[in-house]
Amino acid sequence: MKKISTAVVPIIAIDRRNKRPLHRQIYEAYRYAILRGELRGGQQVPSTRLLAEELGLSRIPIIGAYEELLAEGYFETRIGAGTFVSRSLPENLTMCEQSSPGLVAPNTKTRSTSHRSAAVPSIDRSPWIKGSGAFSIGQSAFEHFPIQIWSRLVSRYARNLRTTSLHYGITAGRADLRAALANYLRSARAVHCEPEQIMVVSGSQHALHIAAMALLDPGDKVWLEDPGYWLARRVLTLSGADIVPVPVDKEGLDVAKGIQLARRARLAFVTPSHQFPLGVTMSLSRRLQLLDWAQKSGSWIIEDDYDSEYRYESRPLASLQGLDPDARVIYVGTFSKVLFPSVRTGYMVVPPDLVERFLAVRQTIDVTQSDLQQAVLAEFISEGHFARHLRRMRNLYSERRALLEAHIRKWFEEEFEIIGDQSGMHLTLGLPKPFSDIEIANRAARQNVWTWPLSPNYYGSEVRQGLLLGFGGVAKEDIPRGVRQLRRVIEGN
Ligand SMILES: Cc1ncc(COP(=O)(O)O)c(C=O)c1O
Repeated sequence: MKKISTAVVPIIAIDRRNKRPLHRQIYEAYRYAILRGELRGGQQVPSTRLLAEELGLSRIPIIGAYEELLAEGYFETRIGAGTFVSRSLPENLTMCEQSSPGLVAPNTKTRSTSHRSAAVPSIDRSPWIKGSGAFSIGQSAFEHFPIQIWSRLVSRYARNLRTTSLHYGITAGRADLRAALANYLRSARAVHCEPEQIMVVSGSQHALHIAAMALLDPGDKVWLEDPGYWLARRVLTLSGADIVPVPVDKEGLDVAKGIQLARRARLAFVTPSHQFPLGVTMSLSRRLQLLDWAQKSGSWIIEDDYDSEYRYESRPLASLQGLDPDARVIYVGTFSKVLFPSVRTGYMVVPPDLVERFLAVRQTIDVTQSDLQQAVLAEFISEGHFARHLRRMRNLYSERRALLEAHIRKWFEEEFEIIGDQSGMHLTLGLPKPFSDIEIANRAARQNVWTWPLSPNYYGSEVRQGLLLGFGGVAKEDIPRGVRQLRRVIEGN
C-alpha cells in the first residue's frame, strides 16, 4: 500500500520569472522558514513527490534542494519515516542570520495598547487559583463521576456519526438538549420555560458575555453583589458597564440600598440560591423586592444559579425566575459544578421577547456550541444518569460539609465564624482581627492548602477578612488533615 505523507506542505513561493534556479528558490524558502522558526526541529517535511505535485513542478529541482538542505544539516532523514527538520539545529542560528529577510522579531515594546486598559483586566495568577485538593473551590468529586457511562455515550455518538452532524448546528443549541433541559428546569428549579427560550452556551461566563452584549450600552449602570463573583465583575466591566456595588447581608442583596445607589440601573447580577462568595440564600422578601424594582424601573436581572442543586438541610429552593410575573429575569445555569468544568457547557433561559436579540448576538459571537458535548449531555439527562448523579453527589457533599464544619469547630475558636447556609460546594470561614486573608491564602498555597481569600471579592469599603473553603472535591479522609494544616498556617507555623 502506498504510504501517505502526514507532513503539512509549507508555504513555498515559486517565481518562474525569477532568474534564480528553482532548486535554489526551494532551498531558500525552507532555510528561511527554519530560521524564522516557522519550521521547527523534528517536524516532518513532505516527500519530494508530494511537494512536486503541490507545486506543479518536476521532482528534479526538489530533490536538488533537499540534498543541499541535508548536506548543510538543516534536514535529516529517518529510515522508513521520511525527511525531517534537523533536531540538532544550533539554537542561535537565527541570530547569525540577521540579514535574512523576515528574521527581525516583531517589535511590540513601544506599541501602545492603553486605549482600553481601564476595562481589560490582567490575568489573575494568584497562587490559590491553580491548586487542586483541600480546599480548592470550583472542584467537584471527579472520582465519583460516572466516567464509564459518559465514555459509553461519547462512543455511541462517535459510532453513529453522520455527515449531517458535521454542519453548523442550531444557534440556540440542539433541540433534544433544550427539551431535556426545559423538563429538568421546570420540575427541579421551578423555572418558567419552553425549549424555545433556552440557549445552550459554553458555561455561565459565556452566558454573561452574551447577556451583556445584548442588554447593555457602554456606561449603563449594573448592580453587582458586594462581595460578589469576580468573573461576573470582569466580563461586565469589559462590556463597558458602570458597576454599582450593592452590599450583601444575611438576606442576600440589599435591594433598598441598590435603589438608593442607582434606581435606574439597567441590570442586576445576583446569585440568590447560594450567594457567591458568602453562601447566604436570598430571602423571599428580598426576592420579591428585587423583582418589584426590576418591573418598576424596566431593568433586567441575571440569576446565576451555579450550584443550587446542592442544599443539605432542605429541598432545593425554587428559582427567582419562577417567581417573576414580568419576565425580567435571565436565568443562567452551568454543568461546571454538577458535572465537571471542562465540559464547558451551560445554558440560559431568556425572556420570550429577548430571544431574537440574544440569538443574534450569539450568532455574531461564536455561532453555536459544538455538537458532541450537547448530544452526549442530552442522552446523559434523558437516560436518567444526571438525576442519579445529582442525588449521589448531594449526599456525598452533605457528608463532606458536615465533616468540614465539625473539624472547623474542633480546631478553631468561636470568633472564626462559619458564614453561609448548608448548601453549595464551599463555605466561608470568617477571620477575626488582625488576620489577613490574602497573607494566609498565600502561605497556605505554599503548603499545598488551597483557600481563596474573601477580601478581594469586595468592591466597596466594608471589607471582611475570610477564607473560602471548597469541600466538594475533597475526599473525606483529607478533610481533618487539611483543617489541622490550615490551623497551623493561621498560627504562623
Ligand atoms: C458564582 C459562579 N457562577 C458560575 C460559575 C461557573 O462558571 P462557568 O459555567 O463559566 O464554569 C462559578 C464557578 O466557580 C461561580 O463561582
